[in-house]
Amino acid sequence: MNPYKETVDWLDRRIGIRALLHQQLTGYLLPRNINIWYTMGAVLMAMFGLQFLTGILLLVYYVPDTEKAFASVTMIMNEVPYGWLIRYLHVVGSNLIIVFLLLHMLSVLYMGSYKRPRELTWVSGFILFNLGLVFCLTGYLLPWSQLSFWATTVATDAAGAIPIVGDFLIEFLRGGPSVGEATLGRFFALHVMGLPMAFLALVGFHLFCVRRIGISAPPFGEEYQPKLTYGFGHEEHPNGVPFHPHYTVKDLAVVFFALALLVAITFYAPWLFIPLDALTPADPFTTPEHIKPEWYFLWAYQTLKIFPSEFLGLAAQGAAMGFLAMLPFIDRGPERRPVKRPIFISLYLLGILLFVGLSMWGHYS
Ligand code: HEM
Repeated sequence: MNPYKETVDWLDRRIGIRALLHQQLTGYLLPRNINIWYTMGAVLMAMFGLQFLTGILLLVYYVPDTEKAFASVTMIMNEVPYGWLIRYLHVVGSNLIIVFLLLHMLSVLYMGSYKRPRELTWVSGFILFNLGLVFCLTGYLLPWSQLSFWATTVATDAAGAIPIVGDFLIEFLRGGPSVGEATLGRFFALHVMGLPMAFLALVGFHLFCVRRIGISAPPFGEEYQPKLTYGFGHEEHPNGVPFHPHYTVKDLAVVFFALALLVAITFYAPWLFIPLDALTPADPFTTPEHIKPEWYFLWAYQTLKIFPSEFLGLAAQGAAMGFLAMLPFIDRGPERRPVKRPIFISLYLLGILLFVGLSMWGHYS
């Protein structure tokens, strides 16, 4: 008797598991020249999975109360067995997720795979990117350190520059005139409940779109030809390689590389993401000398500083994000080959330079 075969036979008679696995894994063909950039989505899923796990473990000891939050995080770090490891994995993981989100977005942009018929995949991805940023912003407040308190004060203050609704918005975000107990309550609720639920639903939709439409063929090589699609049709790759085991192995290799990077930073350089002001409890009466946001918000922070008014700075940021969100509806030609899209690629490089330049300027200013 073979228990493995017996179980699969049992499942096969109930839910047709063999046909399902064949359809979704071995019989699902991917383009032959698929490259490593297509593994970023799997890396993101693995990293987010780990965030959920470490986040739930942190919740066992974390107390969302302005009087107790800092002490509870200090206890996790110093007294709970392996608490420091769980917390560092969560903090470093959140930063790496932003790195991988950016890489996933940049590769999709470079290969033009946001174009028709993948507009919904792009838009759902873009919302996921923003949810990732809000995850980080809300999580930043939870340890109730000097950094948490002042970074949140500055970030919520920026909303005040919006005409008419600005003051209302600040009060709405903070739950009062200044950052306090009510702010911690709403950020906590969002971070551990609201955002994860919205996130899971949206990831489900994103993956549904990817699978339903079919993976795009990399726009390189002799055989690639741009296609203009009209009606719906799943993109087939008849001469392709099976998703399993050919591509799952590649996916796993890159996932393990990302996990190795996470573990290396967690053990050898966690301070990269934990500045000194994160080590003192919040004090609303003492403003730290330099309050700087996390690296991925530095571009936004610097934009607000260089414009003559905060409102103009916010408008420029809104325009840039709005442009990115609507890109598949603006850039509608079928051509996806980078060499045949010189204007787009120039703008793409300019955008990267601007992001890096503004971030460095923000860091050193
Ligand atoms: C939690 C965040 C995300 C997860 C888990 C995720 C997951 C995935 C997965 C598994 C794939 C298929 C394989 C691949 O091309 O990597 C994919 C494809 C895609 N993603 Fe994402 N993604 C996320 C965020 C984003 C973001 C931020 C964008 C862009 C704004 C985006 C846009 C796309 C597009 C356009 C495709 C289609 C690629 C193609 O068919 O060639 N995704 N995503």
